[in-house]
Amino acid sequence: MRFARVVPVAVAAFAASVAGQATSPIEPQDFNVTAALENIGVDVEALPDPPAETSAVQRRTLTPCSLACTSLAILFGNDQLLSEGTTAYDSFTATYWSAQQGNLNPSCVFKPSKTLDVSTLVLVARLYQCPFAVKGGGHAAWAGASSIEDGITVSMENFKQINVASNKQTVDIGPGLRWIDVYLGVEKYGLSVVGGRMAPVGVPGLVLGGGLSHFSNRRGWACDNVASYELVTASGVPITVSATSYADLYWALRGGGNNFGIVTNFKLASFAQGQMWGGQRVYLETEFTKVLDAIYQFTVTGSNTDLDAAQIVTFAVAPGIGNLAFANLHYAKPIANAPVFNNWANLTAIDDTTGLRYMSGMADLLNQGAQGPGAYETWWGISLKMDRQLLQFIVDTYYAVYATTANVEQILFIMAIQPVTEGAMKAMQKNGGNAVGLNPAKGPYFILNFNAAWTVAADEAKFHHAINTIIKTVKAEAKRRGLDNDFVYLNYASEYQDPIGSYGAANKARLSSISKKYDPTQVFQYLQPAGFKLVKGAPNPNPP
Ligand SMILES: Cc1cc2nc3c(=O)[nH]c(=O)nc-3n(C[C@H](O)[C@H](O)[C@H](O)COP(=O)(O)OP(=O)(O)OC[C@H]3O[C@@H](n4cnc5c(N)ncnc54)[C@H](O)[C@@H]3O)c2cc1C
Ligand SMILES: *[C@@H]1O[C@H](CO)[C@@H](O)[C@H](O)[C@H]1NC(C)=O
Ligand SMILES: *[C@@H]1O[C@H](CO)[C@@H](O)[C@H](O)[C@H]1NC(C)=O
Repeated sequence: MRFARVVPVAVAAFAASVAGQATSPIEPQDFNVTAALENIGVDVEALPDPPAETSAVQRRTLTPCSLACTSLAILFGNDQLLSEGTTAYDSFTATYWSAQQGNLNPSCVFKPSKTLDVSTLVLVARLYQCPFAVKGGGHAAWAGASSIEDGITVSMENFKQINVASNKQTVDIGPGLRWIDVYLGVEKYGLSVVGGRMAPVGVPGLVLGGGLSHFSNRRGWACDNVASYELVTASGVPITVSATSYADLYWALRGGGNNFGIVTNFKLASFAQGQMWGGQRVYLETEFTKVLDAIYQFTVTGSNTDLDAAQIVTFAVAPGIGNLAFANLHYAKPIANAPVFNNWANLTAIDDTTGLRYMSGMADLLNQGAQGPGAYETWWGISLKMDRQLLQFIVDTYYAVYATTANVEQILFIMAIQPVTEGAMKAMQKNGGNAVGLNPAKGPYFILNFNAAWTVAADEAKFHHAINTIIKTVKAEAKRRGLDNDFVYLNYASEYQDPIGSYGAANKARLSSISKKYDPTQVFQYLQPAGFKLVKGAPNPNPP
């Protein structure tokens, strides 16, 4: 076997060709993958011959990945290419948050360490027509969201940059980071960013699908606070995507998930942030009427009076204690019990962790007691218009259906209510708006999401059936009352849901035309089947 490493000279040539636009991100009809690989310094002669031309239909069923994996091993060696049957491979698949994702067996795992490696990967996958999946923090729950059976799993774990700009307005963040790393990194500079609320969750999936944050009421979602992306396109060309450079792609990346390319850097808007106030209060069922009043008031009026405030309320059952509500209240300034939370002031909590902490401390706190990787997991989400009576109906429906699963061994089965405030929707409109299609004139909305976790693989259908039953019942009632809403949050969607379709026909059509412009052979639709695709509705249209 000959070794054909990507030589430094070729790297320089690559950079020059990109700078000179010799390689356009919009590929010509006669785009030649072999020539493109040679252009970036890959000695294609040293790689196995690709199989004879496969038809578009064949390439969706064939998985000719041993050639692609062999090629990556030749080019990158064993540090960056993990083969099935090795301990490194096994410990990699164990890093997925859900067992369903970790149970898939890719032909190999590739760990690019720089943008050029990502370009090489895309072109090698195209050369051999081997499907791939891209993994960031691995927190998407369903099998095939960021993992793949028989293809190449591309792990972004080596992209760990945290570079604060000298003017402190932006920070370059690598897609291999978890949110805890990001907060700890930027807090040294007195800064924070709009990002995830639990320590171990990954950066890229959360940002590309939206990104609900404690700071969203003032600043919008994480995707609304990206100054620019470095994106490797279908032709392997890295481009900088911003409001002024490839503006159509910039809009599409704000909610469009993994449909447009592989992101190697997020330049996030940063802001001065010291300690904040927040934490969790736990309430018994005797307080539920007041809890629902408080959720309602915060969403329709309170959140408008003070953009620094955030609220999430989760319902659960604690064996031996009963039904519980967990209110997570956060405030961006170091002020305890700001007036915006007055509706929460007179409730009796059985536990209260509110206090002053940095965002990193909040992210650790919220993660305390959370289950680590490896359980069977499911997440589902819908959105509805806020209404006090509907809240009661939802809580009653959840507990009634929950009771039907009481005898199934489980780690948890919870439901959360999160407002999509008018402030957040207003902030989503900056820099041309995002792709998710929420109309600020029609809100406020709330996202209702479910997470179940269990240990016995065969119980999956029971939890899927229970959650689907709650959602069908709640949506029918909401429809009857004129409170239903289409939007499905991509980062909470199950494989039975269609978040991209929920953005509305016009937005979906616009996303599709942008996809065809930059990815004419639809690499990120067919060759990268992982995730929620433009060309497909729900990954699995038949919920149990
Ligand atoms: C415990 C927990 C807490 C959560 N908290 C929040 C929260 O506070 N706010 C919120 O909004 N959501 C939250 N979520 C949902 C979260 O946003 C999703 O799980 C998200 O997918 C996590 O991103 P990841 O990088 O870890 O996921 P992954 O599973 O690695 O990836 C998710 C998707 O992104 C794609 N992708 C990954 N990297 C790249 C890349 N570099 N380029 C292109 N595509 C890529 C993958 O292919 C996949 O389709 C939470 C989830 C969990 C399990
Ligand atoms: C593609 O490029 C390679 C290498 O430059 C060349 O050998 C091959 O003939 C080209 N294929 C086509 C169809 O032009
Ligand atoms: C909370 O209780 C105090 C004292 O009983 C009362 O004055 C106040 O109006 C109550 N606040 C709310 C929001 O109910």
